[in-house]
Amino acid sequence: MSSKGTILVTGGAGYIGCHICILLIQSGYVPVIIDDLSNAYSSAIKAVEVICGCPVIFYQNSITDILFVSDVINRHQIDAVIHLAAKKSVEESVLDPLLYFDSNVTGLIHLLRAMAKSEVKPIVYSSSATVYAPNSQSGIYNESDPLEPINPYGWTKFMGEKILQDMEQQSLITPAILRYFNPVGAHESGLIGEHPKGKSNNLMPILAEVVTGQRKHLTIYGNDYDTIDGTAVRDFIHVMDVADAHVKAIDILLENKKSFTLNIGTGKGHSVKQIIDTYKRVNQIELATVMAGRRLGDAPNICANVDKAKQTMGWAATRDIDDMCRDLHKWVMGKAAREGIRNE
Ligand code: UD1
Repeated sequence: MSSKGTILVTGGAGYIGCHICILLIQSGYVPVIIDDLSNAYSSAIKAVEVICGCPVIFYQNSITDILFVSDVINRHQIDAVIHLAAKKSVEESVLDPLLYFDSNVTGLIHLLRAMAKSEVKPIVYSSSATVYAPNSQSGIYNESDPLEPINPYGWTKFMGEKILQDMEQQSLITPAILRYFNPVGAHESGLIGEHPKGKSNNLMPILAEVVTGQRKHLTIYGNDYDTIDGTAVRDFIHVMDVADAHVKAIDILLENKKSFTLNIGTGKGHSVKQIIDTYKRVNQIELATVMAGRRLGDAPNICANVDKAKQTMGWAATRDIDDMCRDLHKWVMGKAAREGIRNE
C-alpha cells in the first residue's frame, strides 16, 4: 500500500483538523494525529474513520512533550507537519494572556524542536486574519498588508509566524502560513463539525445553539455599520474549502520545498444578517434574533484578497454560503439527536 506521505496533524481532532484528516486520507496521505482533547472529542476521530472507511492513528498527548513528539515523528517517518494545536478564544486570551502565549508560542517552539531533531522541515501553520492591523478603509486584506493584532490571541499567531520566518531564513524549516478568515460549516455527511468545549463565542456555534433551543435568541451585534444592511461583514469560508487548502499546501511543500504565506478566504464578504437569512432559507427554519450594540473590538468589514492563493496553489474556495448553512444544519441536527437535545 503506497501513500503520498505521512503527515503529523497536531490538533487533528479539532474542528478544522478532523476535516483536514478526511481530505488527507482521500488524497492518498496518512495522517497521524496528536491532540490532547482539551477542546475536542475522540468521537470526531471515530467519525473520520467511518467517513473514510479506515482506522486513523491517534495519540492523546500534548505537543509540549518533545520526547514524545520526536518519538512519533521517527516511528511514523513523518514527511510534513500540519500544526493546528492551539487555543483560539479571543476573550479568553485577553483574560489569561500567559495561558495563550504558553500554549500557542511555547507549544510551537516545542514542536519545532522535535521537528529539528528529526530534520523534518515542511510545516503548514494555522494563522488567522486577526494578525492584520485593522484597516477600516477597504476592509480587504492582502498578505503584504501591515500586521498589528489587537488582542493577545492575535499576537500569539503573529509571533508564531515570525518564529517560522526566522527559522526559514536559516533553512531550518519550510513553512506554509495560512491565514484563515471565518471558517464555518461542516462536512457534507453531517458526521463532523464544530464542537467546542465550554462557552461558544463565534457567530455560527451560537446560531447552532439557538437552532437546538439551548439559547432563546441570537444577538446581532451592531446594525449601524457602513455595510450593505448595517450588520458587520465577514469572509465566511466553508471548513472543507479550508481543509482543501491545507492538502494543496502540503502537496506544494513536498513538491517544491518553497515557503509561502496565504490568505484563506473566499474573497467575498457576507453580512451577519445575510448569513442568518441564508441559514433560515436553505434549512426552512425560523431563528429568533435580537439587535444589540456593537461588540467591543469588532471591525465593520473583513474580507480576503485571495489572488495569491490562486496563483501559488491553484486553489480557490468552491462552496458558497448556501452550502455552509446547509452542511452546518445537518451537523447541528445530527449532533442534537445523538445528544438527546430537543428544540422546545
Ligand atoms: C473571531 C475572532 C478571530 C478568529 C475568528 C474565528 C474576534 C475579535 N475575532 O472573528 O480572531 O480568528 O473568530 O472564526 O473575536 N456576531 C453576532 N452575534 C454573535 C456572535 C457574533 O452578531 O452572537 C457577529 C460579530 O459581532 C461579528 C461577526 O458576527 O461581526 C463574526 O463574529 P465571530 O464569529 O465571533 O468572528 P470574528 O469576530 O470575525
